[in-house]
Amino acid sequence: MPRDRRPQIAIVGRSNVGKSTLINALIGRKGLARVSQTPGKTRAIQFYLVNERFYLVDLPGYGYAKVPKAMSAAWGDLIRGYLEGNENLRLLLLLLDSRREPSDQDRQLRDWLDARGVPWRAVLTKIDKLSGNELAKKRNTISSSIGVSPEEPIGFSSLDRRGVAAIWNPIDAALSLPRGDTTTKE
Ligand code: GTP
Ligand code: MG
Repeated sequence: MPRDRRPQIAIVGRSNVGKSTLINALIGRKGLARVSQTPGKTRAIQFYLVNERFYLVDLPGYGYAKVPKAMSAAWGDLIRGYLEGNENLRLLLLLLDSRREPSDQDRQLRDWLDARGVPWRAVLTKIDKLSGNELAKKRNTISSSIGVSPEEPIGFSSLDRRGVAAIWNPIDAALSLPRGDTTTKE
């Protein structure tokens, strides 16, 4: 955990949803965050200092079946330890696979964030794998499952870089807020 008080923007979501890939796309550098062939690879919290100004934080994924129970409990402790009382955390991007229904863990995490007033924004990943029609449908079902309006989640594809500029908007907004004022979710 960095000791300085630079703001942090965290990326979280189930294993293999595309967290590390999104960090690379935001920064425009392919090999910065390690993209996994085998899910569950990012097991520690990774901090990437961007332009000496703020941290992009790559959190380990959850919900990977092959991770033993004990490891899963360790995941919870690690994430809670990171999120709880973290005054530097300005925004959390909750990544959801555009092809899948949100899992119980996705919704538990959302409840947990809402209960503690952590500002978050949903991002739909891998939208290149869906047609425009399919994506519109999925946007509706995923939004309703996670409890946001259908236009709120930002669609992202690492292949054609759709969504990269749109994701920078809430990040920039969160970074320009004064310290401690994270009450607006946009
Ligand atoms: P863990 O660290 O294991 O939790 O995974 P992660 O969430 O960091 O996912 P990662 O970025 O490693 O990506 C997982 C797989 O999905 C990789 O094979 C990526 O190439 C692929 N992937 C990520 N984003 C996209 C996308 O927008 N489109 C497509 N087609 N594939 C993607
Ligand atoms: Mg990763």
